[in-house]
Amino acid sequence: MLVFERKADLTVYLLQQRKAGNTIGLVPTMGALHRGHLSLIETSVREADITVCSIFVNPIQFTNKKDLEKYPRTPEKDQKLLEDAGCHVLFCPSVEEMYPNPPYTQFSFGALEEVMEGYYRPGHFRGVGLIVSKLFNIVQPDLAFFGQKDLQQCRIIEHMAADLLFNLKVVVIPTVREEDGLAMSSRNVRLEPEARKEATALYKALCLGRDMLLKGEEPSVVGREVEAFVRTFPGLQLEYFSIADGGTLQPVKVVSDHKQLALCIAGYAGDVRLIDNLLTEV
Ligand code: PAF
Repeated sequence: MLVFERKADLTVYLLQQRKAGNTIGLVPTMGALHRGHLSLIETSVREADITVCSIFVNPIQFTNKKDLEKYPRTPEKDQKLLEDAGCHVLFCPSVEEMYPNPPYTQFSFGALEEVMEGYYRPGHFRGVGLIVSKLFNIVQPDLAFFGQKDLQQCRIIEHMAADLLFNLKVVVIPTVREEDGLAMSSRNVRLEPEARKEATALYKALCLGRDMLLKGEEPSVVGREVEAFVRTFPGLQLEYFSIADGGTLQPVKVVSDHKQLALCIAGYAGDVRLIDNLLTEV
């Protein structure tokens, strides 16, 4: 696997690959790689000729300084995992390389960022939009892979790519889960044993909500039931549970007005903030 720290070197290499007729897949990450990331890498390796994984802990998407400091960093392990997964290129730039100047440009994603993660972490998606568009410009991938666990991020990037005419396809890969249902996340390593046990209740809450909706229960009733379920776990603190349209992510009042629902949840297990979601056709 080739490792690049400078965008200019990566650009020269990718130009040669493009000239040779090779397609490029990009998997943007912040490192601390787990099986969820590896399923993105594996899909890219299957679908594109050259897979580029970027590892960059993007400071401007953290709305809480402590969260940025505590974000797990495992560079040697990540590099080994990528090599074993058949990744061709690792791009791991410094903060100065990605932000040579403090940025003036600010993204705004309208209604898409006024709910859920965008509401609870104002400015988060502005930071995601900026770094992902920089990566799209540097790598110019044919395909870019993102995990469904960050569903709101996926929808925002899909719209950003379409609005800015990026010549690429955004591919959303289903969430990979632990055996007990907990969604894979780089933050899971920070869970204390008791919090780890209870964390799986977030997924169970989503399943409960989905099953009730599929039985024809009203979203408001489902919302109350799911919240009550999460409250039975003393170590969990629910931040939000939303029954939203799968495309627009706006809250749903009448299920039959929608084709696809997204059940989204966020909460703290101990002091670790976790998110998860399920998509379901109705
Ligand atoms: O999902 C992530 O890990 C990050 O938000 C991303 C897309 C790599 C941008 O920093």
